[in-house]
Amino acid sequence: MTNYMLIDVFIGVRCECVLTNWEFNTGPNGKASLKVTHKYGPCSQLHRDKAKTPTHAEILQQDESRVKSINSRLSNKLASGDNNDLRNSKASVNIPAKSGSTIGTGNYVVTIGFGTPKKDLTLVFDTGSDITWTQCEPCSKSCYQQKEPIFNPSASNTYTNITCSSNLCSKLISATGITPGCSSSTCVYGIQYGDQSFSLGFFGKEKLTLTQTDVFNDFLFGCGQNNQGLFGGAAGLLGLARDPLSFVQQTAPKYGGFFSYCLPSSSSSTGHLTFGGGASNAVKFTPLSKVSDGTSFYGLDTTGISVGGSSLAISPSVFSASGTIIDSGTVITRLPPAAYSALKTAFREAMKAYPLTDPLSILDTCYDFSKYDNVTFPKIAFSFSGRVNVLLDGTGVFYAQKTSQVCLAFAGNGDASDVAIFGNVQQKRLEVVYDVAGRRVGFGPASC
Ligand SMILES: *[C@@H]1O[C@H](CO)[C@@H](O)[C@H](O)[C@H]1NC(C)=O
Ligand SMILES: *[C@@H]1O[C@H](CO)[C@@H](O)[C@H](O)[C@H]1NC(C)=O
Repeated sequence: MTNYMLIDVFIGVRCECVLTNWEFNTGPNGKASLKVTHKYGPCSQLHRDKAKTPTHAEILQQDESRVKSINSRLSNKLASGDNNDLRNSKASVNIPAKSGSTIGTGNYVVTIGFGTPKKDLTLVFDTGSDITWTQCEPCSKSCYQQKEPIFNPSASNTYTNITCSSNLCSKLISATGITPGCSSSTCVYGIQYGDQSFSLGFFGKEKLTLTQTDVFNDFLFGCGQNNQGLFGGAAGLLGLARDPLSFVQQTAPKYGGFFSYCLPSSSSSTGHLTFGGGASNAVKFTPLSKVSDGTSFYGLDTTGISVGGSSLAISPSVFSASGTIIDSGTVITRLPPAAYSALKTAFREAMKAYPLTDPLSILDTCYDFSKYDNVTFPKIAFSFSGRVNVLLDGTGVFYAQKTSQVCLAFAGNGDASDVAIFGNVQQKRLEVVYDVAGRRVGFGPASC
């Protein structure tokens, strides 16, 4: 049956792929390619202390916080920062300072060189946020533990503080949703993710080195003095959304606002994050949706879902009422309740030979495969406007706690108006292409 794939039952390995050392390949057409690693992967250098690795339930809980914050940003559009004001810097921001708090943001990391002399820093990359930041000495308020030495701007010949009076400072509001502050005439940024994690510090510019030939002087970023969250030991975050301050827009003169990635599926495979270049003919593009207008998210128009080759009967109004975004930092794909219900029903029907077991956090369709040598499951495909059909990789269907609890990796939203999110489990191994200037997102077959 061509619409089904056969896999070996996998052992419940939570930690997926990772590449430890970054490696840059500069290809033709001004492409720069970074290796992509999974934040919690077993081979990640960031993953030394097993005790700090979040459990599945914690990861899924974090994912819920992120989804909540995405929905609130979408419903408030640009007004999200209105309650947060850093103008009186002594007031800091009213952000809860809980230790061990979590960031609901991305699971995949890349390494980039900062400053002169160059220091390599591993950052979580996130298509759902804009500003790039790293923890900075002297960490005057607080820094969480990171794997690499914390960046010291005083030891870099190329670091400059941005002053409060600079018009660059005022650009922060749209990138962070928070009015910038001022401390001894230095511009102060603040950014908050999900419920509890944040970064706050000086807004600066610095030389960034991607490859020997791909160097950006005067890259604007946050030099974090007060950072909290579970970033998995990463040094900060690389913002890949669409605001003018995002990495994508700041490097657009060189790369044309074009990037792509492949999120690896296992510890034995390698992913990539590539800036610039073009897309192969196999990549099919869908236009950016109106749902993300006025925000920096990447909106898509979902037109349908199929299970085992059969289209689910989902009214088009279900997806048009919610809208969809694609996000590298949300783990589990979220669907409008009616769409999830149709998917779950069809999937359970196709899987009725296998015993269901307990739900795992937000995942309610979990199987006990412990007595099987192999399992056959239906292929799942998404379609987006422009007749773009995306057949998910087999690794993009399940989220496994252990062989005896392997769950369908989708969840329903509580509210029909909450946005649908095409998450990173479902993006695994696909070539995902962001043509920001062309206002479109493309999908190609497995590229890692
Ligand atoms: C940046 O500004 C802050 C606040 O004024 C100051 O403490 C810090 O030393 C400055 N950093 C550099 C490298 O100039
Ligand atoms: C499942 O695995 C068993 C033993 O490994 C094999 O004999 C059987 O043919 C497999 N089933 C299918 C449908 O391939």
